[in-house]
Amino acid sequence: MQVIILDTPEQVAEKSAQWVTEVIKQKPAAVLGLATGSTPISLYELLVEQYRHGDLSFADITTFNLDEYHNIAADNPQSYRSFMQKQLFDHVDIAPSRTYLPTCSSEQNPRLQGEAYEQKIKDKGGIDLQILGIGANGHIGFNEPTSSLSSRTRIKTLTKQTLTDNSRLFGQGEFQPTMAMTMGIATILEASYVLLMATGENKASAVKQMVTGPLNAMCPASALQLHQHAVILIDKAAASELT
Ligand code: F6R
Repeated sequence: MQVIILDTPEQVAEKSAQWVTEVIKQKPAAVLGLATGSTPISLYELLVEQYRHGDLSFADITTFNLDEYHNIAADNPQSYRSFMQKQLFDHVDIAPSRTYLPTCSSEQNPRLQGEAYEQKIKDKGGIDLQILGIGANGHIGFNEPTSSLSSRTRIKTLTKQTLTDNSRLFGQGEFQPTMAMTMGIATILEASYVLLMATGENKASAVKQMVTGPLNAMCPASALQLHQHAVILIDKAAASELT
């Protein structure tokens, strides 16, 4: 695990965009693992900008998102599919048929859906670069504290803290899903390269546990200590509890 501390969130986004761009230029048919949430939005903005300038193409790229709410329609504005369309897919030349999210409706069997997602990732040759954010409770994807370090894509009940953290994204009285499908920790660890972005003081404690704490299931992100090519890109505020 390599930790890089930059001054500002903007620099974290710029450095992340540089890395993603490098991967795409070296391997135009790369498989990218993507995250939603506030943190990677500025990364996606920079990638869209580069595409608009003609400096980058997603024509041969395949993407796998980390997670998706359980039983949510793709066109629901709160779905992670909608998020990805709005932040990235609608603005670049990516083939819609090569953008995957771990969906599961109430009519489907979550175990079978999870297995099919894992198989799809394998069929596409595995993830070259996985983008991650981190929850204030140390989660990666929706692998909440106590998630098994050997977990695979499956359904998870979101913790109270995650529901509270994410409630800012839902309007008054709007239904907030409490379950999601998520890649597992073992799935994430299989990516060739991992790039975790974290900014802001509210991530400082989780960053400290991930980087300096013991590897344990109460901080799922600490599993990245096992990864040989994991880069943690953080700003000063997120690094403020590192000594
Ligand atoms: C999103 C995801 C989550 C977020 C995390 C941080 O696909 O998997 O683990 O990365 O909750 O979210 P933000 O960036 O909103 O603080």
